Amino acid sequence: MAFTPELRERAEELVGRYPEKRSAVLPLLHLVQHQDGYISDDGVAEISELTDFTKAEVGAVATFYTMYKREPMGRHLVSVCTNFSCVVRGGKEVYQRLSEKLGVGHEETTEDGAITLEHAECLGNCEGAPLVTVDYYNYECLTPEQAEELVDKLVAGEDVPPPTRGRVPEGIRHVSHRLAGLGDADDPDGEIARANRAARAHHGGSTPLTTATSGPGHVPATIVPSYSDEDEAERERARAQVRETGADPGVLEGAAGPGAREFPTRDPDAVAQRPGEAPGETEHREAGIPGREGERTGADDENEGDANE
Ligand code: FES
Repeated sequence: MAFTPELRERAEELVGRYPEKRSAVLPLLHLVQHQDGYISDDGVAEISELTDFTKAEVGAVATFYTMYKREPMGRHLVSVCTNFSCVVRGGKEVYQRLSEKLGVGHEETTEDGAITLEHAECLGNCEGAPLVTVDYYNYECLTPEQAEELVDKLVAGEDVPPPTRGRVPEGIRHVSHRLAGLGDADDPDGEIARANRAARAHHGGSTPLTTATSGPGHVPATIVPSYSDEDEAERERARAQVRETGADPGVLEGAAGPGAREFPTRDPDAVAQRPGEAPGETEHREAGIPGREGERTGADDENEGDANE
């Protein structure tokens, strides 16, 4: 169905976040999914009107990404990774067990509307293989039995155990609201919305999220690093420690905070590789051995000369 007046307002807010209206198409699709439980034709029509995309273009985007479903989903979306790492650790067995138990196949929904099941490509958490997600929250290293126990609780509407990361799944529609960038569906002006506004203000953005600005004259907020002098001093101390002790930068990362990834990960005296240089050429260049460039003064140049004549 078309957006309720309240969601229409939120949809316009989303459009106002981008210099180009059409950039809002992905969050708007999540918002449609939040309201309708799938990408409905009415939703496609409304996004088309909001973004100046044609309906066919909105449909093309929706069918390209697997997160957008063209059929109504159940209360929870259960995804089982059946890509390489998960398959070698039993992902197919987990999927088959759930498929048999629920009596549904890929992207099908149980009759009681509790679960939509899908098998998925790599979900980016291979170290937790085999991986199952519920409403995109990760449950790592599940056996078929543990996966079965999890969906039993979901079907019964019982409390489910917390995932390895993230929150206890509240339902796919709820999560879709958050994926649209609008924070908690039960508290749309809550913590996340306030944090977004504060972040924009901090980074010099003059645009509170509730004010739509787009098109000519709109200047997107400039993102500036927000590290304090104390952060920088701490990182410098940690860099020095890496240089002096040869310690693993990763070990120090926790201690040094968000800038720790700036640690040198190689010998600071090592020769820098030039763009386009093949492996081995750098060392040749440094050792004074003629590399590809030196050889070009000979046969290569003659050949090029012939070709130009
Ligand atoms: S292969 Fe399953 S999460 Fe990467």
